[in-house]
Amino acid sequence: MTTRLADRPATETDGLLRDAVHVLIDNWHGHSTVPSRGLYPHQWSWDSAFIALGLRRWAPKRAATELLSLFGAQWSDGRIPHIAFNPAVDPDAYFPGPTFWRSADVVGHPPIDTSGIIQPPVHATAAVAVVDGLGEDGLAFARRAYPCLVAQHDYLRRRRSVGPAGLAAVVHPWETGMDNSPAWDTPLHAVPADLSLFDTYTRRDLEHAGTGERPTDEDYARYIRLALAYRDHGYDDDWVRAEGAFCVVDPTFNALWAWAEISLADLAERIGADPSGHRAEAARLTRALVDQLWSAEAGVFLARDVRTGHRLSERTVSGLIPLVLPDLPAEVVGPVHDTLSSDRFRVGRVYGVPSFDLTDPRHDPQRYWRGPSWLNTTWLVAQGLRQHGYPDLAAGLEDDIVALTAQSGLREYFHPLTGTGHGTDRFSWSAALLIEVLLSRR
Ligand code: DGY
Repeated sequence: MTTRLADRPATETDGLLRDAVHVLIDNWHGHSTVPSRGLYPHQWSWDSAFIALGLRRWAPKRAATELLSLFGAQWSDGRIPHIAFNPAVDPDAYFPGPTFWRSADVVGHPPIDTSGIIQPPVHATAAVAVVDGLGEDGLAFARRAYPCLVAQHDYLRRRRSVGPAGLAAVVHPWETGMDNSPAWDTPLHAVPADLSLFDTYTRRDLEHAGTGERPTDEDYARYIRLALAYRDHGYDDDWVRAEGAFCVVDPTFNALWAWAEISLADLAERIGADPSGHRAEAARLTRALVDQLWSAEAGVFLARDVRTGHRLSERTVSGLIPLVLPDLPAEVVGPVHDTLSSDRFRVGRVYGVPSFDLTDPRHDPQRYWRGPSWLNTTWLVAQGLRQHGYPDLAAGLEDDIVALTAQSGLREYFHPLTGTGHGTDRFSWSAALLIEVLLSRR
């Protein structure tokens, strides 16, 4: 439905590329890139991985600095926190900020303030792309990145694995990166929504985006309560896996971990380390994802609530992203493709991949992760489609990435039917992934 990239004049695509580069320059803080100057004024973990993917095509050394700067915020237990706070930024510019998370109270904290939760581990995959972009400097970067990434994955295995299958659990909706996804409604609504928390805390996000585009106050109160409980137990993963109120196994989180193990095998080979353990881990995680989370009836991977043992029934984009895994069996790939093309996601007939089932009455096309199309998830699905033999659909999604940004600017997310932009503007991963698409297709 969108104009093909090949049919756009070079003057137009050159202009889009220039705008995207300008956003990444404006959002650069000297060692890393903020997702956006107003709404997210520090360094975010999975944002940095997507940003590095685009930066490596334009400024590969900067892409390496982006990732190394994030690794500098790694805790001694191996976790890479979801936010690395910039000490030069007003601590009250973002809530919950450094005085809320209190990372400095934890043994093994890094030299700067951070949050205590994590985000999807897509970093090894970004690191391999950066190594390629760096040319002859790639090896030195690979040697520095590899041990940090191994420690990140070890943390998931040692501290976050649940059940005999050993998939990683997330203990806060923010850890999935898809904060207010309808898939979390059931487990999250079991957490009391104490609105009196807003007597103490002020939401800063609503100063930068409309209330109809962000999570509700009720959900935000639950997020605060979950984060406070984890913090007040010293970010102890034994406690949080056994007693935390939210404990969920998410398809995308685990698929990106498996994908990153394949990337780690690649990095290991380049620096002369043994790749076999990483390959075995990728195979184990791929099998576990299919055994534990694949639903043939739903035609998608479904998240699992560790507290109840039940699968969560919502079909979201998280259940389609495991397509990035090369060894997914054909009896899964075919149905995922069919679900993408069905009325639930209408890929090829709407803009990008909607974050939530279009036929579900809860679909909200403008509210954060409850319906809009995002460029990172759209790009991930395109990677999966291409590697499983659907190059035209993949190219169509990349055309959508260009069309959405050409029409509405480098917004945070987009209405899947009209393409209007929502959330913050001048959003870094939108800029980075636009660069990635434009330059990879030249
Ligand atoms: C936010 O502030 O909305 C983030 O997604 C939480 O990290």
